[in-house]
Amino acid sequence: MINIILLGPPGAGKGTQAHRLVAERNMIQLSTGDMLREARTSGTAMGKMVADVMDRGDLVTDEIVIGLIDEKLQGDNGGGFIFDGFPRTLAQADALGALLKRSGRKLDAVIEMQVDDAALVARISGRFTCGDCGEVYHDDTKPTAKPGTCDKCGSSDLKRRADDNADSLKVRLMEYYKKTSPLIGYYYAKGDLHTVDGLAEIDTVAKSIANVLDQVRTS
Ligand code: AP5
Repeated sequence: MINIILLGPPGAGKGTQAHRLVAERNMIQLSTGDMLREARTSGTAMGKMVADVMDRGDLVTDEIVIGLIDEKLQGDNGGGFIFDGFPRTLAQADALGALLKRSGRKLDAVIEMQVDDAALVARISGRFTCGDCGEVYHDDTKPTAKPGTCDKCGSSDLKRRADDNADSLKVRLMEYYKKTSPLIGYYYAKGDLHTVDGLAEIDTVAKSIANVLDQVRTS
């Protein structure tokens, strides 16, 4: 069992690669973004507050997301956890360390996916996802084989995210550089950091991640 963090700015490809690891290695994807998108549909006051924060591109409070992860860590860990979009602040990173320790687990690798900002704009503006199975697509780089139908589950519920617009993306990038990028130094100092070229093609990025996992497994 291997527990990893996929770390990178919005649009780096974290969700895309997490889905492959789930399919290929039976790992469990813990995406705080997906959990929060589910919470916002609940119709509660908390759901409404989360929706406003996400649509602006700001970060939801540490307390809420740490609570969501804590709950998921009580469940099955399959081939290991993939933390996707979590942690995003130093407080979340400290909390994750404590939660893993408490449950007798450890973090095996933090994989930083490096992508430049210009590519992120193009990726975010062309993204759509399947509302049923969560598969991630792109108008140019990963279209569906049959227009309007998910390749994976056949659903026609293909959606674009409310925060995938130029204004929100500016805020999301700023939040990343101010609050999340310090985690690169944090995990480097702990000896957990691995870097992959996130600008490469999806299959090539997947191979680079597989290499890191093999390296960690045998070390
Ligand atoms: P979240 O859902 O985590 O969004 P994000 O981090 O902004 O990341 P994205 O989902 O936008 O991108 P990704 O890296 O997964 O890229 P993808 O694989 O889709 O968070 C949303 C919001 O929730 C936050 O803004 C915040 O408000 C809140 N939130 C979430 N977690 C939180 C936390 N821990 N604390 C506080 N607040 C939190 O790929 C993007 C596109 O590019 C796709 O179209 C894909 O097909 C394409 N693509 C992927 N890889 C490649 C490639 N190699 N080549 C070409 N195209 C590619």
